[in-house]
Amino acid sequence: MTIKVHLIAAARPNFVKIAPLYHALKKSWVEPSIVHTGQHYDINMSDAFFRDLMLPEPHFHLGIGSGTHAEQTGRVMMAYEKILMETCPEMVIVVGDVNSTVACALATTKISYNQHSKLSRSSVSSIPDYPGGRPLLAHLEAGFRSFDRSMPEEINRLVTDALSDILWTPSPDADENLKREGILEGKIIRVGNIMIDSLEMLRSVIEKQKMPAELGLTPGDYAVVTLHRPSNVDTPEQLGAICDGLLAISEQIRTVFPVHPRTRKNLESFGLLRKLESTTGLILTEPVNYVRFMSLIFDCRFVLTDSGGIQEESTYLGIPCLTLRPNTERPITIEQGTNKLTTAENMVKDAEAILSAEAVSSRVPELWDGHTAERIVESIKDISGVGC
Ligand code: UD1
Repeated sequence: MTIKVHLIAAARPNFVKIAPLYHALKKSWVEPSIVHTGQHYDINMSDAFFRDLMLPEPHFHLGIGSGTHAEQTGRVMMAYEKILMETCPEMVIVVGDVNSTVACALATTKISYNQHSKLSRSSVSSIPDYPGGRPLLAHLEAGFRSFDRSMPEEINRLVTDALSDILWTPSPDADENLKREGILEGKIIRVGNIMIDSLEMLRSVIEKQKMPAELGLTPGDYAVVTLHRPSNVDTPEQLGAICDGLLAISEQIRTVFPVHPRTRKNLESFGLLRKLESTTGLILTEPVNYVRFMSLIFDCRFVLTDSGGIQEESTYLGIPCLTLRPNTERPITIEQGTNKLTTAENMVKDAEAILSAEAVSSRVPELWDGHTAERIVESIKDISGVGC
């Protein structure tokens, strides 16, 4: 017997998370389909990632595009509900914390099939509150908390985790967060960090890429910057202060900055783009696909970012990371890894400290080993009783 599983992917970091899982599920008894909600739609933000990660064309494309949070969430719910009713999957896997994650979680847990499903309340006895009659909802990368409810992603995490039947977590702190919120322990399964699976899956391709050389950069002698969080890029004051810091850093080390569409729009409208573009030490590029971006990270001196995934990848690779945020939902990258929080005010000083320091000491958290997808396949087997 096989079960139908939907993998929900919406935005750039989601594609990196579903890829190893899709490939592992394809080799198992599970029938995976990719549902692309269309939250990210540019070639550089979406198609290039599918190609790099060897993913097929999405089986379903909802094409919802940009909008306010409520518009995006509502449009995904309406479009995905139709797909659910037409295709009746036994399981839906949502990843990360974007608007489409919470939208599909809501649509999945509110659907009611008028037909027999291969999974019933009694066949899934390890999840005591699973009501049957709808797909099981699994959240991959469950339990992260920044404890900052001004972040849209924090709201998405809280709601998605509260609704999920299965919570696959990356680290012990995530387990603790979920237990504190009253999630039943049987639902929490630590599987490790799926981003590391993608990195290991493509390591040899990444190592051959040589993006730094194309940009005229010397390995170990340049910095990489990424910025897209609304709290950093949506006001002229904050984005202006960060740009001042970038200009100062780029006087000390050549700095590559692949610019996210949200950030580019705001740099333009706040009149900051021209100055950055004309600074010699700073190289602005379009958003870069996965393999090219990771080839930049592999050889950089340090990274300055507000991304979640890059905090993890740099910890895994032992590369210093400055996170331009007041908090992180990934504290293990600070406690065990190479991550340090910074501010627009402190970023230059923190970058100088990295430049004058010897190698950083860090370790790789447990289960960040490239085998997370395999553990998830085992977990699905255990819970569904199918595939045994
Ligand atoms: C979203 C996620 C964020 C994730 C990030 C990764 C939410 C709330 N936010 O933020 O958690 O870290 O993706 O990039 O779900 N745009 C384009 N082309 C695209 C996609 C977006 O031009 O392919 C523009 C949109 O018009 C919009 C802006 O970029 O103005 C922001 O896009 P959106 O998907 O709303 O949020 P992100 O900032 O990308």
